[in-house]
Amino acid sequence: MRILVTGGAGYIGSHTVRQLLAAGHEVTVYDNLEAGHRAAVPAGSLVVGDLRDVDHLDQLLLVNRIEAVVHFAALAYVGESVTNPAKYYTTNLIYALHLLDRCRRNGVQKFVFSSTCATYGVPQTVPIAEDEPQAPVNPYGNTKLAFERALADYAGAYPFGYCALRYFNASGAAEDGSLGEHHDPETHLIPIVIQAATGKRPHVEVFGTDYPTPDGTCVRDYIHVDDLARAHVLALGALTPGAKLAYNVGTGRGYSVLEVIRTVEEVTGLKVPVKHGPRRAGDPPALVAKADKIRAELGWAPKFDSLRAIVETAWRWHKAHPNGYGE
Ligand code: UFG
Repeated sequence: MRILVTGGAGYIGSHTVRQLLAAGHEVTVYDNLEAGHRAAVPAGSLVVGDLRDVDHLDQLLLVNRIEAVVHFAALAYVGESVTNPAKYYTTNLIYALHLLDRCRRNGVQKFVFSSTCATYGVPQTVPIAEDEPQAPVNPYGNTKLAFERALADYAGAYPFGYCALRYFNASGAAEDGSLGEHHDPETHLIPIVIQAATGKRPHVEVFGTDYPTPDGTCVRDYIHVDDLARAHVLALGALTPGAKLAYNVGTGRGYSVLEVIRTVEEVTGLKVPVKHGPRRAGDPPALVAKADKIRAELGWAPKFDSLRAIVETAWRWHKAHPNGYGE
């Protein structure tokens, strides 16, 4: 298939691009390199451009005869979305809607979308199944849910199928240590704990120790980035016109913040300096996927089935690239 991957030079995007190429697809990466990294994608596949440049996207869809779009390009800092919702609605919704409509006009019939467990807000039932009510508690989640709804409406009206993949906590790095996580600023727990272990940060602050969880800290479902990437490849294979697919992508097993810290200590052999702090606004106590649907319908299963295995890959990446992509 000829595939356009927006945000393909980012963390999840770059791992997915590698797998799409390995599966024999023709891939065009469209990325403005604000959060993405040139070194994370093969030079020949990268087109540097911005989501707001709809005419540029339109040209690419036409000239490269694109058959499918995998749409990663988005903003993903929950805290920033609360203080600057305009930025999030503009990028995650308005620009995304323009892209979607150009897909329709250019006859693109397959669309895979990076959605999130944040669309569930504070879930009533954990583990979370796909039919859990979607009630986001921040603008980031609202923009992702709004776009899921637009996709459903398009699939109902036009010869178009989509798959929304609701990610849990993307983590880890390519097994060979050549691709990995590099955000600026970094807000995600595993890289922060590794940086605290190696002395790049003075400590890790645990955001809240009084949650209704076994050890009082938040529980999350950490899913290896290559397992997430494979879900996109499988989703593309399953899409037909009119398909309205939505899957949770998680392991079904949760780990607390303290368990993550302990695991990093075990894997690295280093002591992690820890400080206990207040809760971070908007953090649900526990987010764990019920991922039976994607297993049953797409034959997907995580290869990295323990936190330790995931952290080992993150540690390998960090040792090989202590400054990330170093740009
Ligand atoms: N945490 C800390 N200290 C830190 C960083 C994180 O205690 O320095 C805790 C958080 O409170 C949370 C857990 O570690 O309980 C995981 O935090 P991350 O920031 O790594 O991940 P989140 O679960 O907050 O975020 C993930 C994705 C986001 C997405 C969000 C949806 O990374 O992109 O889920 O809820 F928006």
